[in-house]
Amino acid sequence: MWSASKDHSRAQRVFAPFFLAFCFIGWCASCAKDKVDISASPNCPDTLSFNNVVLPLIQENCSACHSSGNGTGYTFTNHGNIAASADAILGSMRGEGYQLMPQGGPALHDTIIQKVECWIFQGKLNN
Ligand code: HEC
Repeated sequence: MWSASKDHSRAQRVFAPFFLAFCFIGWCASCAKDKVDISASPNCPDTLSFNNVVLPLIQENCSACHSSGNGTGYTFTNHGNIAASADAILGSMRGEGYQLMPQGGPALHDTIIQKVECWIFQGKLNN
């Protein structure tokens, strides 16, 4: 049906408004999704610095219990051991697939978690 040019133009006239409506709905849905589900497409305008952003936030929120394993099995002190556990770190911050961290909660603010997500998304740079 789409290959016949007569049908084609008729179909275009009939379906164009629906097509535009669907685009609009899709556009609205994608906006709403960005706000709720940061895993869908991380919003990372800048290149995150490991040394200035990620390491300090780990030190502030996690090092009390993870500076030398402390019996937890996880040591977060430098780029090497943080990058190696990056997925576990992000998962635990979200409480997805891992125990929620910091242990006992509350979960860190989304803006902090998003920084870790962006750093991973950008290739776990040592910068
Ligand atoms: C108050 C102490 C404490 C703080 C703060 C803390 N953790 Fe933990 N964490 C633990 C303990 C204890 C365990 C081991 C729990 C167990 O094995 O039952 C653990 C386990 C983990 C695990 C493994 C969880 C699993 O399900 O296998 C990860 C990953 C982790 N922590 C990441 C983090 C990150 C990232 C932070 C900072 C946002 C953090 N932790 C802050 C105490 C803490």
